[in-house]
Amino acid sequence: MRAALDPLRVRDSSMKTPVTYDGLADWYDEHLAPFTALATEPICSLLGVAHGRVVDIGCGGGVHIPPLLARGWDVTGVDLSVDQLRVARARAGRDVSLVEADATALPFEDDEFDAAISAFTHTA
Ligand SMILES: C[S@@+](CC[C@H](N)C(=O)[O-])C[C@H]1O[C@@H](n2cnc3c(N)ncnc32)[C@H](O)[C@@H]1O
Repeated sequence: MRAALDPLRVRDSSMKTPVTYDGLADWYDEHLAPFTALATEPICSLLGVAHGRVVDIGCGGGVHIPPLLARGWDVTGVDLSVDQLRVARARAGRDVSLVEADATALPFEDDEFDAAISAFTHTA
């Protein structure tokens, strides 16, 4: 799935978490991404030296993804909102796997990632 152009879609109708960012992703990226980007350096600092795969749960428009890629992490972004994932794809390019999924039902094995981050995901 790495480097796929479109997000892998794994949500299904049994998932009840509402998707509220669809249709707002461009607005969010213009007005709020500059704020959430302030967390990128602390996140990278906490993660330390890149050592494999990191999953960004609730990645939104992917503001933290390019700096993680630049530090050598193999990044997978997960979000409920396909609109947010569209922005993340435009920002991060082909070198990232993007998965449309619910954080309450992640479609990964327990040991698939070496690290996980989730920033500002208190809103759906
Ligand atoms: C405030 S934005 C933060 C985006 C990004 N983490 C950042 O720091 O800029 C919250 C994001 O979390 C996503 N989200 C919220 N609940 C989620 C869930 N249960 N599963 C996946 N994504 C979720 C939303 O769709 C939205 O894109």
